[in-house]
Amino acid sequence: MPSIPAGSKRSIHSSAKRVLGKLRQLVVRHLTMKPFEGKVAIVTGSGRGIGRAVVLRLAEHGARVVINDLDAQPAAEVEAAIHSAGGEAVSVLGSVADPKVAIAMVEAAHGKWGRLDILVNNAGVTRDAMIHRMTDEQYNLVMDVVARGAFNCIRAAAPLLRDAGKKDRQAGNFVHRKIVNVSSIAGIHGAVGNANYAAAKAALIGLTKAIAKEWAPCLVNCNAVAPGIVDTRMTAARDDAQNPALGIPAEVREKIKGQMPFGRIGTPEDVAAAIEFLSSSASDFITGQVLQIDGGVEFINVVG
Ligand SMILES: NC(=O)c1ccc[n+]([C@@H]2O[C@H](COP(=O)([O-])OP(=O)(O)OC[C@H]3O[C@@H](n4cnc5c(N)ncnc54)[C@H](O)[C@@H]3O)[C@@H](O)[C@H]2O)c1
Repeated sequence: MPSIPAGSKRSIHSSAKRVLGKLRQLVVRHLTMKPFEGKVAIVTGSGRGIGRAVVLRLAEHGARVVINDLDAQPAAEVEAAIHSAGGEAVSVLGSVADPKVAIAMVEAAHGKWGRLDILVNNAGVTRDAMIHRMTDEQYNLVMDVVARGAFNCIRAAAPLLRDAGKKDRQAGNFVHRKIVNVSSIAGIHGAVGNANYAAAKAALIGLTKAIAKEWAPCLVNCNAVAPGIVDTRMTAARDDAQNPALGIPAEVREKIKGQMPFGRIGTPEDVAAAIEFLSSSASDFITGQVLQIDGGVEFINVVG
């Protein structure tokens, strides 16, 4: 067998070392890469509760995020928490019911990072009353924030979700973009004392299914989550003296707690985990669906 000259041996050895070094870099990069690295997300109503848990989770896993809320202080606290953990975030204050605020959120994502991958329509309110006593203001506010708000944000995001997805697909780049709408079990089953909320949350399910159909060719997945009762300001025991519009009566809360199959009500993190899944590439083949996150309360107590 002919012998390999010493010089060639050295060069084969150093090429192999270079290839191994590159391979090692790739493996390390793969192992340390966060699942939402490079992605940009908008989460509405993310100063508190479920939205806060979602935006913190997406940022922790590498997403750059647009925070939105009506209230400046909770939004600033979430933004500061993300920055101090080394993440990137920007806040856009104002109501999702205002189309200009929806446009401002999309412009913030585009202006700062040039793209949008995930839109979570989470902002919501309640103004509870039995229907024969419900005012036009109570009905309109909930419809405007929940149903109209999600519509405003989806329409404003069309250039960065629909059009960008269409271009990517035409270029052979099959990367999915995601919309997750936060509905409620009230939108599926109805609820006593908040017909406005049930109607708005049902509208959100219709919107979810329509967008799933319209934007599937552009590789945009649109799904909804329908939480049961979750421990947030929205479901805190109502203090009528402080704010009769917020929370639910303490006795109703206790009754619901007593019916929970797992012996507890949900946490914002329970819902955020499902929204993270529906925002991730793990759910690329799922669209137009409504995922109930209610600790089994509806299935076990209603179905029998
Ligand atoms: N908590 C529950 O049991 C429960 C159950 C089912 C569905 N949901 C839904 O989950 C979503 C989040 O609710 P939560 O329980 O975290 O409530 P929350 O009150 O704790 O948080 C909602 C946040 O949205 C903000 N917000 C309200 N109106 C807004 C608007 N017009 N524009 C922008 N921001 C606005 C509020 O300031 C608040 O910070 C809502 O859509 C709600 O309907 C909640």
